[in-house]
Amino acid sequence: MTRPENLFDLSGKVALVTGANSGLGFGFAEGLARAGSDLILWGRRTDANEQAAEKLKSLGVKVHTDTVDVTDEATIVAGVASAISVMGKIDTVVANAGIASQKPFIEMDPETYHNLINVNQHGVVFTLREVARHMVERGAGGSMIVCGSGSIFQGVPTMTHYGAAKGALAALAKGIAAELGPHGIRCNVIAPGFIITEMTMADPEVGKLIVDSVAAKAPLGRAGNPDDLWGAAIYLASDLSRYHTGDTLIIDGGKISSN
Ligand SMILES: NC(=O)c1ccc[n+]([C@@H]2O[C@H](COP(=O)([O-])OP(=O)(O)OC[C@H]3O[C@@H](n4cnc5c(N)ncnc54)[C@H](OP(=O)(O)O)[C@@H]3O)[C@@H](O)[C@H]2O)c1
Repeated sequence: MTRPENLFDLSGKVALVTGANSGLGFGFAEGLARAGSDLILWGRRTDANEQAAEKLKSLGVKVHTDTVDVTDEATIVAGVASAISVMGKIDTVVANAGIASQKPFIEMDPETYHNLINVNQHGVVFTLREVARHMVERGAGGSMIVCGSGSIFQGVPTMTHYGAAKGALAALAKGIAAELGPHGIRCNVIAPGFIITEMTMADPEVGKLIVDSVAAKAPLGRAGNPDDLWGAAIYLASDLSRYHTGDTLIIDGGKISSN
């Protein structure tokens, strides 16, 4: 019997990853590249995008970068047009760019709230809308992957606004799945638990406390790393997930998902 083909092979596909120069976004891009996908990397910092691209090119894939702020719809529209002119198409989009902030709910002010919603919700909506226009016009379907959060399922004190924005993304994915499924476009959310990144370790002391607390509570006994999300991303980008849409996959070492 001959060995079967590698069903997770992403060779020939092109993936756009937002917020790809750091943390989870770089991790998603690396996982997809290791499975053979060419890449389009977005972030606001041009230098950081270039550095990420240099690392990922060493995996033998084509990489195109663009300086895109996902809170600015005009740069999203220009970024998708430029990506298609350079790379030819987009098969997969990972809407990952996001920020976090902490504020007690009774102290919430419009600026904090709107800043976060602009990146974590509007940025995702308009990135996916623009890629959806391309996917519908091209007529070859596609996979949309949204970076959610465990905070969709479990309240986090001082991060109610963050959880609300991420919760909306689970509903967004269901809406896109229903509306664009007939075009062969699927949309799913990956909801990570605590993952060690530049964002979560911005204050190393607080980061270490959370890492220890997650390690004590998660059945798998540790906090996550960006490469712990490779499997979900590769699966959702591959044709093996062709009958899977409108769902949210919790990847958190069992902390929430085993409750
Ligand atoms: N780390 C965790 O524990 C965790 C858990 C669940 C979910 N998440 C989610 O994972 C995603 C990434 O978080 P992370 O921990 O990897 O954070 P990170 O290391 O701070 O990375 C954030 C990325 O987003 C980009 N970005 C931020 N604002 C942007 C904007 N307006 N337009 C375009 N790009 C923007 C940043 O690049 P530039 O600064 O160059 O723009 C950077 O590449 C977020 O959506 C976050 O909510 C994280």
